Amino acid sequence: MSTIPASTPVRADFQGALPSSLVLASLSRALDLAEGEPMGHAIRACWLGMKVGDWLGLGPEDRQDLFYALLLKDAGCSANAYSVTHWFGADDRSTKAHLKVADWGSQWRSVLFAMRQTAPSAPITRRMARLVSLGSKGPGLANELVQLRCTRGAELVRELGWSEAAAEAVLCLDEHWNGAGRPRGLKGEEIPLLSRIVLLSQTTEIFWRLGGRRSVESVLRRRRGTWFDPQLVDAVLTHARSDKLWDRFGSITHPEQVAHLDPHPRKIPSASLEALLEIGQVFAGVVDAKSPWTSTHSTRTALLSRRMAAVMGLDEEEANRIGLAALLHDLGKLAVSNAILDKAGPLDPGEMMEMQNHTEISYQLLAPLWPLGDVAEMAASHHERLDGSGYHRHLRGPDLTYGAQIVAVADVFEALTSDRPYRRGMDNDQAIAHLRKEAGRTLAAEPISAIYEMVESARGRPEGFALT
Ligand SMILES: [Fe+2]
Ligand SMILES: [Fe+2]
Repeated sequence: MSTIPASTPVRADFQGALPSSLVLASLSRALDLAEGEPMGHAIRACWLGMKVGDWLGLGPEDRQDLFYALLLKDAGCSANAYSVTHWFGADDRSTKAHLKVADWGSQWRSVLFAMRQTAPSAPITRRMARLVSLGSKGPGLANELVQLRCTRGAELVRELGWSEAAAEAVLCLDEHWNGAGRPRGLKGEEIPLLSRIVLLSQTTEIFWRLGGRRSVESVLRRRRGTWFDPQLVDAVLTHARSDKLWDRFGSITHPEQVAHLDPHPRKIPSASLEALLEIGQVFAGVVDAKSPWTSTHSTRTALLSRRMAAVMGLDEEEANRIGLAALLHDLGKLAVSNAILDKAGPLDPGEMMEMQNHTEISYQLLAPLWPLGDVAEMAASHHERLDGSGYHRHLRGPDLTYGAQIVAVADVFEALTSDRPYRRGMDNDQAIAHLRKEAGRTLAAEPISAIYEMVESARGRPEGFALT
């Protein structure tokens, strides 16, 4: 008889359907964190951008494209995180957050930006060496970094099944009205209208947080005709005279507050997890793209978890829910700097704390998807251990569900068999031997036996045991 309690049942109130707008509004908060912004940045930018769309009289189709462009504007965020850390020698999240505030639209301002952001805590000689190496790449580097992010972002919008107009809006979001933006240097009305609204909305949200209404009005006036379309600036400034607008804007913190703004949200039926798995797969790709050392970690962990669930005799729906949790288990790592994720040496206590926070953040990101309560729980428990030595809630065996224990074992096996900056990956047999030492002590024995069974039955097959 199993010693592992069954996973929490799906809540009874999960009857209708989950709107795609709510799912993506919830997950947009993961993209906020990867960009060094607080959770809720994209949701507020979305609310404001949709107001601008109303003021301009956009039709339902354009409004839907705008809605998803606003929520997914930073979908390509992780594609350049490693390069940003590598070139600037600094926390990618804080460098990115500064980039959204600094006016880098001229050569000398770009130089000033680089001087402030490059290896800020390193000794002066190291900073100078980094600045020289940055200088040798010139403006080409900035173009390359923006191109990587915007192209990947647009690809992900397409992968999620949204329109070409929404993808194009994300692709061109860093283009400026005066032609000094990136990556293509588009000018004026060459820039898609939706991109112009997205840029204005995200900047407004950031400056509102920094200094309220005055700060917004000041940046919009300063950048009118340089960064921003003058017509859009005038529309916002006209409506910005109302305190009500800013009171309402400031109250937008939850995904449900914007989910209804999509004119035609897709309904994801409760009976099927397929659509959620597709979305999960895309976001797993966002997480995996953050570091070259874990470039397939979430997808391989999910594949392994689903196979283990099948070997353990769980039904397809349960295996899919576990697979979804595994796809999204490390979502919180988007809030961790690459300076920590890619560090070759041991982490100091502060870095360790930041790293270990990722499970709690995964929970916060997934919890608003109320019908998926047990998925959030499984995802957030993947570093918990039977003896209570794990994190972040220090749960013990009886508190850990089947799903949580499967994902935990799959996570360890995938990590052990992959290379890391500080060690080579083990082969399957070495990894199983390692897991067996933990069986019943920190990790559940049944999921470990399931992996052993899979590896054994693949022996002798030409392709062997592969997680592809
Ligand atoms: Fe993790
Ligand atoms: Fe993981």
